[in-house]
Amino acid sequence: MTAHVTIELVTLDDAEEIQQIASHPDVVATTRLPDPYPENGAQTWIKMLLPRQKAGDEYAFAIRRAEDGKIVGVCGFVTVHKDQHLAEYGYWIGKPYWNHGYATAAGRLAIEYARKHIKLKKLFAHSLEQNPASCRVLEKLGFEKKKKLRNSNDPHHGDAAIYVYEKTL
Ligand SMILES: CC(C)(COP(=O)(O)OP(=O)(O)OC[C@H]1O[C@@H](n2cnc3c(N)ncnc32)[C@H](O)[C@@H]1OP(=O)(O)O)[C@@H](O)C(=O)NCCC(=O)NCCS
Repeated sequence: MTAHVTIELVTLDDAEEIQQIASHPDVVATTRLPDPYPENGAQTWIKMLLPRQKAGDEYAFAIRRAEDGKIVGVCGFVTVHKDQHLAEYGYWIGKPYWNHGYATAAGRLAIEYARKHIKLKKLFAHSLEQNPASCRVLEKLGFEKKKKLRNSNDPHHGDAAIYVYEKTL
């Protein structure tokens, strides 16, 4: 069954809903979101995001469930290398909404947006080895596993192994 979602560029109006779902420890644990997620974390992040979004350096989308418009997660292009038509793709879904196909459905829409509106030619993405659901999402989106880094080199995940995925658009 295909999950029905829409994606729209994040605005400050989304802060409260995003705050509620981002602050779950199981979401923070496998992403680069701050741990613990601070009060007003979503608002602070969106204020930093908006000028970058306007400049085309970063894009973040609120993923909304089509049936009621509720925000179920966030996805987007974290760092856009405009000269190389390349960007990192990142995503997370609120814990109550896992395993409904939302990450996959949103990913398909984000990839379409990248092709049409940002003219990207290549995406890359990271997933912790210990996060098989995320690896599965990337595989369903047609990303190819390119290499395994033995150390994530990020302060959240220390020496946890991480896979690097790529997709040519
Ligand atoms: C990873 C994450 C984005 C998946 O979102 P989702 O909306 O549940 O994903 P989907 O429903 O589209 O697809 C999940 C797939 O993983 C599979 N899956 C779920 N748990 C699994 C597990 N423990 N082992 C293997 N596969 C698993 C599901 O069966 C499904 O695959 P299928 O369609 O072939 O059955 C979500 O769990 C999440 O946000 N986690 C916390 C943050 C995070 O990890 N973000 C990614 C950072 S790289």
